[in-house]
Amino acid sequence: MLETKTERIVKPARNILGSLRLPGDKSISHRYALLSALANGTTKLTNFSTGADCASSLGCAAALGATVTRRDGVIEIVGSGEFGPSYAPLDCGNSGSTMRMLTGLLAATSHTYTLIGDVSLSRRPMERVRKPISQMGAEITLTEGHAPVTIRGGKLTAIDYTTPVPSAQVKTAVLFAGLQAAGTTTVRESVRTRDHGELALRAFGANVDRSIDSVSIVGGQQLQAIEAAVPGDISSAAFFLCAAALFPGSNLVFDSLGLNPTRATLLDVLTALGAHIGVLNLEEKNGELVGTVQVNAPTNGLTGTTISGALSAQLIDELPVLAAIASYTQNGVRIRDAKELRVKESDRIALVANNLRAMGAEVQEFEDGLDVPGGQQLHGAEINSGGDHRIAMAFSVAALKASGDTVIQGAESAAISFPEFYELLDQVTER
Ligand code: S3P
Repeated sequence: MLETKTERIVKPARNILGSLRLPGDKSISHRYALLSALANGTTKLTNFSTGADCASSLGCAAALGATVTRRDGVIEIVGSGEFGPSYAPLDCGNSGSTMRMLTGLLAATSHTYTLIGDVSLSRRPMERVRKPISQMGAEITLTEGHAPVTIRGGKLTAIDYTTPVPSAQVKTAVLFAGLQAAGTTTVRESVRTRDHGELALRAFGANVDRSIDSVSIVGGQQLQAIEAAVPGDISSAAFFLCAAALFPGSNLVFDSLGLNPTRATLLDVLTALGAHIGVLNLEEKNGELVGTVQVNAPTNGLTGTTISGALSAQLIDELPVLAAIASYTQNGVRIRDAKELRVKESDRIALVANNLRAMGAEVQEFEDGLDVPGGQQLHGAEINSGGDHRIAMAFSVAALKASGDTVIQGAESAAISFPEFYELLDQVTER
C-alpha cells in the first residue's frame, strides 16, 4: 500500500482552552487485545486506542484465531484459550510493543511464527526479548538482532530474570511467557517501569505477586475474558498538557484520563516546572487509576529542571515533548540517562536536537540526553518528523509558541498512536 506523506502547517497560538476525553491508553489497549486472544470467552472493550499500533495488535490477535468485531464503539474479541497456527507472517506494523509482547505470548505454542514490521520497527533491537524467552525454552531467531523474528514455540520453564535495560515491553513479554511456563517466573527491574502488564494479567484473572523491585507469576493459569473501558492515554494527553503549560491563562480539563502512578510522572514534572495541576474524581478500574485532570499555566512561565535516573525511564515517551518546549522555560531542561530514546521509532535525541536547531534554538546533544537552555524564543521552521509520531506531535506543540508558521513533515505519523491529534489540537487552540 502506498503511504501518503502529509505536511501540516501549525500556526502560533494565543491560548489553550477546553476539555478533552482522549482515546484509550496505547499500552493498556495492546495488553488487553493480546490477552483477550488467549483468554476463554468474549472480551468487550470500550475506548480502545484508535492508533494504528493497537490495530496491529488486534490484527495479530485475529490472525492467531481470535474473532475480532467492532460494533458501536465496542470491540469484541472472542478468545480461544490457545493460539492457532498462522501461515502468513504476523504484521506488527510500527509497533515494538506488539512484536516484543507477542514474542513472549507465542513462545509456548507448538507452532512456528514469523513476526515482521515496517522499516522503523525492523531497525529496533529485539535481542532484549530473544534472550529471556529463549532461556525459557523457545527457539527465537532474529536477523542481525532485529525483525523478522521467528518463534519456534516449545515447553517453557520458568526463569528468574533481571532486565538489563528498564523495559516494560520486555517485562511483559517474560510474564506472558511465564503464564504458560512450568514453575514461577520472576522479573526483576532496577527501575519500576509501567505495570500495565501485571495489572492486565490480574484483570484477566491471573495471580501475579509483586514486591518493590520484582514481579512473579506461576505458570499454567487460565485467563478469563473481561469487560473494560480503557482509560484515556496520558502519553497522548502529554502533548496537550505541555501546550497548556506554555500559555498563561490556559485552562484544559481531561476526563477519564489514565493516572497509573507508573505513568503519571509528567504531572509531577509539570508541577515542579510551576504549572498548576489538579486531579479529581480518582477511581480504580481493573486495577488502573482513572481521574479528571485540570492544567493551568503559571503566570510567569515555566521554570526549569533536570530529568535523569529513574525519572528518565518513567518519562521515556514524554521526553520528546518536554525537550521540544524546554527552550520556552526560564532555566532550561537537562535530560540524561535516556539513551533508550535513540532506539525508539526514530533516534529521538538526534531528531529533537536537529528540529530544535531548525527552529533557532541552541541545544547540546549527549549520547544519553540533551541540554536545552531556557529563555530562547523559537521561530517557525520545517520540521522533519522522521516518520515518528511523537516527534511530529512534540514539534506541533513547540510550534504553538513560535513566531511564524511551522511545517511538520510526515504529520500523518501522529496516527500511529493518536489519529485525532490535529483535530483536537485545533479544537482547544485559540488563535
Ligand atoms: C511501552 C513501553 C515503553 C514505551 C512504549 C510502550 C509498553 O517501551 O516507550 O511506548 O507499552 O510497555 P520500552 O519497554 O522499550 O521501554
